[in-house]
Amino acid sequence: MKVTCPSCGLVGKVMFDRLFDASAKVVEIHDLTKAFGKFTAVDSLNLTIFKGEIYGLLGPNGSGKTTIIKMLCGLLRPTAGSAKIFGHPIPYKSIMNQIGYMPQDTAIYLDNTVHENLLFFGGIYGMPKNQLEKKEREMLAFVNLKDWRDSLVSTLSGGMKHRLSLACSLIHEPTLVFLDEPTVGVDPELRATFWGYFESLAQKGITVIITTHYMDEADHCTRVGLLRQGHLIADGRPGELKEKTRTRSLEEAFLFLTGRKQS
Ligand SMILES: Nc1ncnc2c1ncn2[C@@H]1O[C@H](COP(=O)(O)OP(=O)(O)O)[C@@H](O)[C@H]1O
Ligand SMILES: [Mg+2]
Repeated sequence: MKVTCPSCGLVGKVMFDRLFDASAKVVEIHDLTKAFGKFTAVDSLNLTIFKGEIYGLLGPNGSGKTTIIKMLCGLLRPTAGSAKIFGHPIPYKSIMNQIGYMPQDTAIYLDNTVHENLLFFGGIYGMPKNQLEKKEREMLAFVNLKDWRDSLVSTLSGGMKHRLSLACSLIHEPTLVFLDEPTVGVDPELRATFWGYFESLAQKGITVIITTHYMDEADHCTRVGLLRQGHLIADGRPGELKEKTRTRSLEEAFLFLTGRKQS
């Protein structure tokens, strides 16, 4: 089956058959802006993200990735513009249990064990006990923390805390997940496992919105948005952006688009 991408007009098979449902809008962003005093961190962002996408927000530190995620999660009030999640304007309450959020700064309880944290995050979303137990086993295996289930989080390394935070954001089986730099400080083998898992989520129709400043990771995304100083300077499939800029990597494409490299 051939499908036309509503954002770029491209007719594709491989990508759209497998990767996302271009008829179902999950996130609709219109002129979303955030200023801190006189400084504009996110400037008039327009973007639509579809069901089953892994959408990557890419850009260097300070380009506005976290600010965008926080606005979409209802944690920061936009200065201007609007956004809808599953058709609900932000901030929303009624669909909170459909959303998973892994903040950039690990948000887990240090004085509790790994198990207690997972139990807590599953519990606040009202997961039944047997479903929670099953999901906990899956999550512990996924983030490779089975042997630390009963360890206090304060005794874990930074990377382990990061992995637990990821598990806590996914345990309640959200249909839309915001992951803010989930692969920072994660070793290459586990990074590959993470991306494999994100792809499996997307194949189930779950939408994953992910930030990273590792440009090489973005090839796993269905589409990426390149951010620079609060502006979306390009948006499209990784391959498409490379083709347009006649570059071999997204890093080169980014440098080309910011005028720092010729193709
Ligand atoms: N609460 C805040 N007050 C003032 N400036 C902020 C605040 N939060 C973020 N910023 C600024 O907004 C810009 C974008 O930050 P951020 O969204 O965290 O970028 P990224 O996640 O891409 O590294 C940065 O220059 C940052 O210093
Ligand atoms: Mg950030």
